[in-house]
Amino acid sequence: MALWGGRFSTGPNEAVAKLSRSVHFDWRLAPYDVRVNIAHVAGLRRAGVLSEAVAAEITVALKELADEISTGAFSYTEADEDVHSAVERGLVSKLGELGGAFRAGRSRNDLVVTDFKLYLIDHLLEIAHESIELVTTIDEVASKHLDLVAPGFTHLQHAQPILFSHELAKHSHSLLRDVDRMKDWLSRNSISPLGSGALAGSALVPNPEIIAAELAFQGVARNSIDAVSDRDFVAEALFIFAMLGVHLSRIGEEFTIWNTQEFGWVTLNDAFSTGSSIMPQKKNPDIAELARGKSGRLIGNLTSLLVTLKGLPFAYNRDLQEDKEPVFDSVEELLTLLPALRGMIQTASFNGEKIARGVLSGHALATEIADFLVRSGIPFAKAHEISGEAVALAESKGVEVHELIDAEFSAIDPGLTGELRALLSAEAAIDSRISINGTSTKSVTAQLLQLEAKIRGYSSWIASERKRFSGMMGA
Ligand code: ARG
Repeated sequence: MALWGGRFSTGPNEAVAKLSRSVHFDWRLAPYDVRVNIAHVAGLRRAGVLSEAVAAEITVALKELADEISTGAFSYTEADEDVHSAVERGLVSKLGELGGAFRAGRSRNDLVVTDFKLYLIDHLLEIAHESIELVTTIDEVASKHLDLVAPGFTHLQHAQPILFSHELAKHSHSLLRDVDRMKDWLSRNSISPLGSGALAGSALVPNPEIIAAELAFQGVARNSIDAVSDRDFVAEALFIFAMLGVHLSRIGEEFTIWNTQEFGWVTLNDAFSTGSSIMPQKKNPDIAELARGKSGRLIGNLTSLLVTLKGLPFAYNRDLQEDKEPVFDSVEELLTLLPALRGMIQTASFNGEKIARGVLSGHALATEIADFLVRSGIPFAKAHEISGEAVALAESKGVEVHELIDAEFSAIDPGLTGELRALLSAEAAIDSRISINGTSTKSVTAQLLQLEAKIRGYSSWIASERKRFSGMMGA
């Protein structure tokens, strides 16, 4: 159904209608569109534009439409241009001419931003929830491996021994930063654009604050021109999704490496791996690879929106219709990926023997030797040099540095006394890293407890925000 036409001598050319049409993707906004319209009708009633009786009739019809949309009994047709025109068609089919009364005092320009914000709030909270589920799983697996030592890598070379729990739990921290960004997004973007009209504000609804509150927004945008052209909230959300995607891609990469025959650190559950069409023996880590691969399109979606916005004139321009598909794509991909990745990690078995196997190789205890000398008063640069000499000797003998005998150590430097020996084990190296962020068992145990507390905090934030918006969600 067309929402315009009075001044036109003909309807749009077929190719134009096809180009212009967005309903096949923006139909996802339908539940939010109805909810916003219900709040708007209440605003028209308060302003005396619609009588009590007419407002009540339209509201009942909109609520019916909401139910029909949720069951699929009402949907868009080939002839609809966008979600807003489809909803109006639904209303007109119920109320006749009265069905067109509800759009007084607002424009699709402020409506579409409001719908889109509500969609994003709803789905951002869902993604936050799925991210927290993933963090919970990672922490559970980390907690189970507190006694497992592993080689820690820099430059993909053995560097220093660490607890495997520490290795796993690092992902929780990056994912929680993503959730924190979502929280921050919501606190900044909980502002309603409704009442901005096409660009100049609304002559018929003078109090958009009440409508905003009914929609659970925390305030109203203060410049109508900015409000209809602002898509910062979309770009910010797409950045958050892209960053989350990058974090998931790094998890994917790690599991892909751990799953190689060379590493053999992890065995993926059959339900969370895939086969090859030609090689019967193959069992591939496709979920981990897709986690890596999806980040490309998530970054692309952010880039696509920023390019659309760059240099765009203010107020509404039709280019802005291009803002939605990147978001729908990022949201839907993440909501598919997050549970799959969580399942993969939850059901994976970790081969402790293989993980611990190389923990001391690559002279991983060389830093312990230098730290030992520093504690006895030798400046670090000198200690570093002495430890380096020990490594060189070990290399020449084809052993690891901790395998040198006491006499060899003391021949390199008299400061390398027999007391050093007690420090030359993975466990001793790990448990000496007692800084608050370190890999000692004590530190990691405390970090995991802290993560649990953070998870509880974010979970209750998600629950309370969902409750706050529940009148609107999916209405
Ligand atoms: N489908 C449009 C969009 O997504 C709705 C707003 C249309 N406004 C207009 N002035 N043509 O942006």
